[in-house]
Amino acid sequence: MKVAYIRELGNYIDSEVTIRGWIYNTRSSGKKIRFMILRDGTGLLQGVLVQGNIDEKYMDEFDKLTQETSVEVTGVVRKDERAVGGVELGVSSYRIISGSVDFPISPKEHGTAFLMENRHLWLRSKKQAAIMRIRARVIKAMKDYLDNNGFVGVESPILTPSACEGTSTLFSCDYFGEKAYLSQSGQLYAEATAFALGKVYTYGPTFRAEKSKTRRHLTEFWMLEPEMAFYDLEMDMELIEDFVEYVISTAVSECKNELAVIERDISTLLNIKKPFPRITYSEAADILEKECDDFVRGGDFGGGHETVLAGKFEKPVFIYNMPKNIKAFYFKKCDDPGFVKGCDLIAPEGYGEIVGGGQREDNYDALLQSIKEHGLNEKDYDWYLDLRKYGSVPHAGFGIGIERTVAWICGIPHLRETIAFPRMLNLLKP
Ligand code: 4AD
Ligand code: MG
Repeated sequence: MKVAYIRELGNYIDSEVTIRGWIYNTRSSGKKIRFMILRDGTGLLQGVLVQGNIDEKYMDEFDKLTQETSVEVTGVVRKDERAVGGVELGVSSYRIISGSVDFPISPKEHGTAFLMENRHLWLRSKKQAAIMRIRARVIKAMKDYLDNNGFVGVESPILTPSACEGTSTLFSCDYFGEKAYLSQSGQLYAEATAFALGKVYTYGPTFRAEKSKTRRHLTEFWMLEPEMAFYDLEMDMELIEDFVEYVISTAVSECKNELAVIERDISTLLNIKKPFPRITYSEAADILEKECDDFVRGGDFGGGHETVLAGKFEKPVFIYNMPKNIKAFYFKKCDDPGFVKGCDLIAPEGYGEIVGGGQREDNYDALLQSIKEHGLNEKDYDWYLDLRKYGSVPHAGFGIGIERTVAWICGIPHLRETIAFPRMLNLLKP
């Protein structure tokens, strides 16, 4: 018995193989012909049962093959240009591994609330599985780029003693009588490792107690954060655009089938070539003051503001030199001390900010002052301040949100479909 995966069946034309998987759908054509659509995680395959060519018991038991019944099916692979994957299976026998009664997600339309409650089952659908494959390929492309360009992968802790991105979105927990927080970002630790290794990246889950319900915010999301010694803001932005160009072009070329399954129009993605446009915060504010009644100069951008700015460009756009008051404590100040050397990259088509980054404050006194100005406890950051005491150098980095990037590549407006089990306000199950 040759067990094969559906994806590789092109190599087995006219051979007998056994497929292990699940029933996606069945139908009959009169009394004599039955069809089963199988899925095995690597693809879909049509199996055909013809009366006379197969033991009668398999025709009689065909009604037991309800949606999501797990099966082992044996037959001969035949070329069929019309079929997905270019092949079909002439079934000679099958064995039911385990039944499936009243699978809740039928091919008909369901509401999103229902699908989210059944996320553990919804993942089996064609589109959701395709998105998960794209996500995995995107993460691999990101790591490949960095591994091939002299970066060292390191891990930052998840349990941390202090905030990185402001105290208002911290999740706290008890750590043997002390207070610990789930990491909002691996950046501060990435800075320490960059001073040990030169160019590093951290990759891991990050947590923010986002109390607002938006389509662009999860409470648990994954972030990849490169950090480079001897980089300034300009070098940082050059790296970001080269990195993003590579990730998008790799996703488009490596995920053709999956992008077709989810019906993503990739024409806009083909256009994502550097250089990306760059505007300062002040230039962005000029645009928003004219076009958005709810924008206040000096304030942070809301999702709507990002969409207006993105609409001016066909490529991702950098906004840089941000007002100090809307940014975290660690940014390096610009010559105009009201501004800091931060940059955000806003994706086109309304997918919002996908990258946040910038140059770090490398001067001890300036950093200490900023920690105090942000109302943070100096003691919590003594180790981080040490980095400015012992051979401090200019350095910069960025964080790219996996879910936002996957949402853009897949053309899905809501982040909840870009991760297997999303965590959001009021969503902890399954
Ligand atoms: O802009 P942020 O907050 O930057 C940082 O955390 C820096 N410490 C990164 C660094 O420089 N090393 O977050 C970076 C990115 C955002 O651009 C966005 O893509 C994503 O993380 N992100 C979220 N994604 C989903 N849900 C949320 N609540 C997110 N918050 C940020
Ligand atoms: Mg940001």
